[in-house]
This record gives sequence, structure tokens and C-alpha cells, in this order.
Amino acid sequence: MASESGSGLRPMHAGDLDRVLAWRNHPEVRRYMYTQHVIGRDEHQAWFERAHADPARHLLVFEREGRPDGFVNVTIVDEVARRAEWGFYLAPDAPRGSGRQLGEQTLAYVFRDLTLHKLCGEALAYNERSVRFHERLGFRQEARLRDHHFDGSGYHDVIGFGLLATEWSRESGSEVR
Ligand SMILES: CC(C)(COP(=O)(O)OP(=O)(O)OC[C@H]1O[C@@H](n2cnc3c(N)ncnc32)[C@H](O)[C@@H]1OP(=O)(O)O)[C@@H](O)C(=O)NCCC(=O)NCCS
Repeated sequence: MASESGSGLRPMHAGDLDRVLAWRNHPEVRRYMYTQHVIGRDEHQAWFERAHADPARHLLVFEREGRPDGFVNVTIVDEVARRAEWGFYLAPDAPRGSGRQLGEQTLAYVFRDLTLHKLCGEALAYNERSVRFHERLGFRQEARLRDHHFDGSGYHDVIGFGLLATEWSRESGSEVR
């Protein structure tokens, strides 16, 4: 899954658990997730074992020049409609431009390798980086779900994004490598 730019996606394995947990628990990642408590090692391990055993879920590590710099989770939610949902985060110290590469490579994986029809994403409306990121990748805003999430102290809107396989090849300019 590596590209000519020296970056790529690979399956997450048990050896990545500590690294991915540290990214997930970082305040600048955690504050944009639906569950925002600090996740313990046991909870993380149980999540990994469950998710890893589920054939609908693709847990991926994004690497740049051999350095793990991000995590992506693609879940096929409808086999008939060929539709998946994704979630992702970068290592908090990932170099500039990592998000774009992580995004483009995930789209190639989803539409070229898995031949899915549609990828959906959700972002808390205050997560402006993620909103801009989805838009830059060619996603369309399909929903604004009002007061959709409660974080323990207040309600927040959630933005629903969607990208079709046909729009990916036409709008993103991605090449089939
Ligand atoms: C969401 C996320 C992956 C988006 O990545 P990103 O911030 O777009 O990552 P990039 O490194 O590609 O870009 C960083 C910024 O530098 C800019 N940039 C990227 N490459 C650049 C370059 N070569 N030269 C100049 N600027 C550049 C981008 O436009 C972006 O600016 P912006 O935030 O003003 O739009 C990342 O912010 C993240 O992991 N956030 C925390 C977790 C999270 O929110 N996950 C999503 C939940 S829905």
C-alpha cells in the first residue's frame, strides 16, 4: 500500500498498541472524539482485539518514510451498498502535510483496492480542521445533525460528509498507481 512519495498505509498490529493509544489519548486528538475520557491500556487492548477480529473493519497505520504518523479505521457498514465509514487521527507531532497524504491514501485504498461505492465521515462541527480536511478531499457535506452529540456538559452539532467513488476519480485528481 506504499506510494512513490514514501508514505503508505499498512494493517495495524499488536505492536502498534502503545503508540496508537498515546495518539488517541493526546488532548488535541481526544477533544475531537465522541468519547473523550483517557482510555486505559486494558480498554484499548479489548477494543483492538474486538475490532481486529471483525472482517468489516480495517485498522490501518499511516507511515511516512518508515515512521508511523497516523491511524485510520475504515468500517464497511453496508456490504450490499458497498458503503463504509471512516475515522482517523494523526500523531500530534506528525509533519505538516501528513493529513493530506493520509487522506488521499485512504481514499485510494477504499475506492481502488476495496472497490467501495461510498465513504462517509462525521466530524463535530467545532472540529474545523477536520471539516476543512474532508472538504479538501472532495467530500460533500450531506448533513448537519443539530445537537447530535452530548459531551457531558453540552450538546454539539455533527457534520455528516459523503464521497462517492465516481466523485473521487473525477474531483480528487488521484492517480491509479
Ligand atoms: C483531522 C486531521 C487528520 C486533518 O489533518 P490536517 O490538519 O489537514 O493535516 P495536514 O498536515 O495535511 O495540514 C495541516 C495544515 O497545514 C496545511 N498544509 C498542509 N500541507 C501544507 C504544505 N505543504 N504547505 C503549507 N501548508 C500545508 C493544511 O492546509 C492545513 O491547514 P489548515 O488546518 O489551515 O487547513 C488532523 O487535524 C487530526 O488528526 N486532528 C485530530 C484528530 C481528529 O480531529 N480526527 C478527525 C475526527 S472527525
